[in-house]
Amino acid sequence: MPKLERSPEPHLYQAYGIYLLENKHKLIRQMKKRYQPSVHGHRPWDSSFLVMDYLQHRPMTQRSRVIEVGSGWGPLSVFCASRFGAKVTALDIDPEVFPYLKVLAELNNVKVEPLVKSFKKLSSEELGEFDVVVGSDICFWDELVKPLAKLVTRALDAGVKRVIFADPGRPTFYEMCDLCNKKHKVSLSEWYAVEPERFEGEVVEIRAG
Ligand SMILES: C[S@@+](CC[C@H](N)C(=O)[O-])C[C@H]1O[C@@H](n2cnc3c(N)ncnc32)[C@H](O)[C@@H]1O
Repeated sequence: MPKLERSPEPHLYQAYGIYLLENKHKLIRQMKKRYQPSVHGHRPWDSSFLVMDYLQHRPMTQRSRVIEVGSGWGPLSVFCASRFGAKVTALDIDPEVFPYLKVLAELNNVKVEPLVKSFKKLSSEELGEFDVVVGSDICFWDELVKPLAKLVTRALDAGVKRVIFADPGRPTFYEMCDLCNKKHKVSLSEWYAVEPERFEGEVVEIRAG
């Protein structure tokens, strides 16, 4: 069994080796008065822990260049930087998520580069700068299905080696996987995370086919 690590202060918790803050934490309560994400980026979502668990089993190369798309508060970005020493860019369409990401990065003593942009506008040239694309809980509307599948194609064509997304299992996510399956090597797995608590969902890894 792992060593028991007691939380050093109230409303702070750990998952997969990183520290996170609950909504009740004093700092988060203060920030919520000033910054209000409006596209569901108002907390860390459980699917991010699915990718963290997946990467424990299928790790990325140390110091990989990673872009997280639809990062929200960026728990996954922070994990990649902390666990793999990755050089991480966190992209989100909503600038209001980045103050939270900055706090999480500082809390975990890592650097993550913020990028305010829609993943629909991420060019092949920009994607070619990365080894790995990750994302969690980002395929939640019908209108996101095709743009995400196109993003995967642009990324793999530009030389990205691995694209890894997780989702609770929405129909839109499976539609996106089906579209990718027509062009690339798609490996879809049911997965579960065990930290901060048990959560089940889906992880897809897509590589050039
Ligand atoms: C459900 S949240 C997930 C946040 C984070 N990935 C997590 O697991 O905690 C979805 C995020 O995707 C972002 N998003 C939605 N559409 C986007 C787009 N077209 N380009 C970039 N980010 C987008 C939202 O602003 C939000 O932060």
